Amino acid sequence: DTLIVKMNSENIDNESIKKAGEIIREGGLVAFPTETVYGLGANALNKEAAKKIYAAKGRPSDNPLIAHIANEEMLKPLVKEIPEVAKKLMDAFWPGPMTLIFNKSDIVPKDTTGGLDTVAIRMPNHPIAQALIKEAGVSIAAPSANLSGKPSPTLGEHVIDDMDGRIDMIIDGGMVGMGLESTIIDVTVEPPMILRPGFITKEMLKEVIDQVETDKAILTKPTDGLRPKAPGMKYRHYAPKADFRMYDGEEEKVANEIIKVANEKDSQGYVTGILTSDQNKHFYEGKVNDGVVIVSLGDLDKPETIANHLFKALRDFDKMEAQFIFGETFSRKDVGDAIMNRLTKAAGYNIINL
Ligand code: TXA
Ligand code: MG
Repeated sequence: DTLIVKMNSENIDNESIKKAGEIIREGGLVAFPTETVYGLGANALNKEAAKKIYAAKGRPSDNPLIAHIANEEMLKPLVKEIPEVAKKLMDAFWPGPMTLIFNKSDIVPKDTTGGLDTVAIRMPNHPIAQALIKEAGVSIAAPSANLSGKPSPTLGEHVIDDMDGRIDMIIDGGMVGMGLESTIIDVTVEPPMILRPGFITKEMLKEVIDQVETDKAILTKPTDGLRPKAPGMKYRHYAPKADFRMYDGEEEKVANEIIKVANEKDSQGYVTGILTSDQNKHFYEGKVNDGVVIVSLGDLDKPETIANHLFKALRDFDKMEAQFIFGETFSRKDVGDAIMNRLTKAAGYNIINL
C-alpha cells in the first residue's frame, strides 16, 4: 500500500518527513514535490533502490536519473571535480530549477546513471524537497514521478493517478511552482552545453558564463539522425493519447484552419479538443461545434502561467479521452523555448505551417 500524506510548504509535517526519510534510507520510494515537477525519489547510492524506480515508472534503464542534494557539501562526494563554470552557475542558480552534469565519482552506481560515467545533479529550492533530502541524509535520485511516456506531474493527484500502489509513499504538496522540468547543462564539456531547455534560459546562463551552446539534437526531429546527449530527450515524452497537431502562422489564419478541422473531426464523431490561449480563445467560442472542448493555457503575457498549465492540460485531454487535439504554437521567447520543446514532443513534431 502507498502511504499518501498532504502538506504544504508553509506547514511542513515533520512526522511525515521523518517517515519519508526513513523509507528513503531503507531503500524505498517516495514521491515528493519540487519547484519544477514532482519527483520519484530513492537513495541515489543504492543500486536496488534505483532499480525499483525504473520498475515503478516502466522506464528504460538506459535513461539516467538526477541526484538531488540539499547543500553543497553533498555535492563533493558524488563528483570527480567541480569545474569553475559549474561553481559560477551553482552560485547563480542553486537552489533552483537547474541540473548540472558532472563526471561521477566511484560511489555513484551506474544503475543510477544509466551506465554513464557522468551524473546529473540538482539542488531544488522547494521547502518540502529540501526538508526530505536533509532528513534522509543521502542524495535522492529522482526522475519525474510520472509513468514513462506520460506528462510530468504538476499536481499531487497526477502522482496518485500514476503511482498509487506502485511506491511506498506520496507527499502531496499541491501544485508545483513552475510546471516544467529543470534546465540541464553539461559542464563536463567546453563550452557547457544545454541538454534540455527550462526556466533558466540560455540568456540567463550567458549573464553568468561567457559561452554556452545548445545540443543541436534537441532542436531536430529524432528521424533526422542526431542523438540527444541527454538519453531521455530521445523518447517521445509527454505524448497524449490523442493525435495532437499544432498549427503555426498568422493567428487568424491558424484559428480558421483549426475551426475547420476541429468541426470536421467532431462531426465524424471523434472527441476533439483545441489548445489555445486567453487572448485567442474568442476565435473559437461560438464558431466550433458544442462538442469541441476549448482549453486555454492562460495569458500569453504570462509565459510562466502557460508553462504551469501545460502538463495538466495534456493530462486533462487524456482524461476526457480526446482523440484529436488541434493547437496553436506559442512564442519561443525566454521560457517559451522550453514550452515549445515540450509541446513539439507532445505533438510528435507534427507542426503544420500555414
Ligand atoms: O526538474 C527536474 O529535473 C525533475 C525534478 C523531479 O527534479 N526531474 C526530471 O527527471 O525531470 P527525469 O528523469 O524525468 O529527466 C532527467 C533527464 C533525462 O532526460 C535524462 O536522460 C537526463 O536528465 N540525464 C540524467 N543524467 C544524465 C547524464 N549523466 N547525462 C546526460 N543526461 C542525463
Ligand atoms: Mg521525466
